[in-house]
Amino acid sequence: MMNIAVFASGNGSNFQAIYDATQRGDLQANITIVVCDKPGASVIERAEKVGIPTLVCSPKEFASKAAYEQEIVKELATKKVEFIILAGYMRIIGEVLLKQYPNRIVNIHPSLLPAFPGKDAVGQALKAGVKVTGVTVHYVDAGMDTGPIIDQVIVPIGEADTREQVEHHIHFVEHRFYPEVLQRVLTKQTLKA
Ligand code: GAR
Repeated sequence: MMNIAVFASGNGSNFQAIYDATQRGDLQANITIVVCDKPGASVIERAEKVGIPTLVCSPKEFASKAAYEQEIVKELATKKVEFIILAGYMRIIGEVLLKQYPNRIVNIHPSLLPAFPGKDAVGQALKAGVKVTGVTVHYVDAGMDTGPIIDQVIVPIGEADTREQVEHHIHFVEHRFYPEVLQRVLTKQTLKA
């Protein structure tokens, strides 16, 4: 079974969904560490509650992005991490991590990329007036929400939908979709290895 790290910056509902899937056996992977760049984020409490070690470190405490990522890489090595899952990690991945984990970092984004990358994808979709948006899972490269797309799913936006309703629908979809796509990705990676 592959050892994975989950990186998150906020609530961590996707971390929870991924963890729950590992517990059910739907996602065959071991989460050996949760990395969080925002002290106080709810994902830390979620991880602690289920006994998963956390690395909480703010990039501000380091001289450079490279130094910050080197610290993470060091910690990931002690946890024998083979694959990185970004789940609401609101930071661009730098050279150090990309070099250490080539084609082994995936991200989820709440839009049909390449539409609406970056922050507040739902807000961007509502502002644009699109009638469908969705969720994308993709490999991570040096860009912001770029990198080869692995899979996407559509989420319709109803005429009377509020922002909260769209966000709720997106999360509902993400929590099922991400573990399912990850299981496919990790199985493929295992076969390749
Ligand atoms: C998710 O909707 C995820 O797709 C998004 O952040 C949210 C995190 O929610 N990620 C991005 O916007 C990445 N650019 P969570 O903390 O409850 O899992």
